[in-house]
Amino acid sequence: MELETKRLTIKDLSMDDIERFSEYRNKKEVANYQSWKQYPLSKAKQRITYCLKHPFQGKIGNYHLGIYFNHYLIGDIFIEIDGQTTFTIGYTLDSAYWSQGYATEALEAFLNYMRDVYHFKICLAYVYEDNERSIHLLEKMGFELMNKSWFYQDILFRKKLD
Ligand SMILES: CC(C)(COP(=O)(O)OP(=O)(O)OC[C@H]1O[C@@H](n2cnc3c(N)ncnc32)[C@H](O)[C@@H]1OP(=O)(O)O)[C@@H](O)C(=O)NCCC(=O)NCCS
Repeated sequence: MELETKRLTIKDLSMDDIERFSEYRNKKEVANYQSWKQYPLSKAKQRITYCLKHPFQGKIGNYHLGIYFNHYLIGDIFIEIDGQTTFTIGYTLDSAYWSQGYATEALEAFLNYMRDVYHFKICLAYVYEDNERSIHLLEKMGFELMNKSWFYQDILFRKKLD
């Protein structure tokens, strides 16, 4: 898939992205509220190898798409699909590109694409309760708080794609 927004391109990752994928995911402030502490080249290579075998198709499975600015990888979207109506997203932007509206622009375009092309109805996102930037982004995009997990210290947000 390939999706163009005003400033960005969203598309499948390639082997050329391994270094960048590792580089920005390894930054302390980027990894801070994620499931990893470090993101070495070996991990990036493993994930992108998986992605090349499973290009995004809107079917059951888990995927990663790259967010590119002028052909340069600045972030990624993780997608987990386990049914026909609902999918879960995760998103990561290189901190050098924060506060410029790129995450909002990429996610808005991607959610519209999932609704229009694959007819998904609901998008879910899990966020650690102290990840203020991410919570701000979701609330701005019209996600509603569904559930707080005291055990995982995260919050489930949901958006109906109408
Ligand atoms: C979560 C994350 C993607 C949010 O990034 P972000 O830079 O805050 O979000 P955006 O790219 O949408 O930028 C938003 C800000 O850009 C600014 N901005 C500048 N130019 C803009 C433009 N042309 N359009 C829109 N906003 C613009 C606005 O001030 C806006 O802030 P506001 O919402 O208060 O008005 C980022 O912090 C990140 O990758 N964090 C690490 C990974 C992570 O925690 N992921 C989430 C796991 S659940």
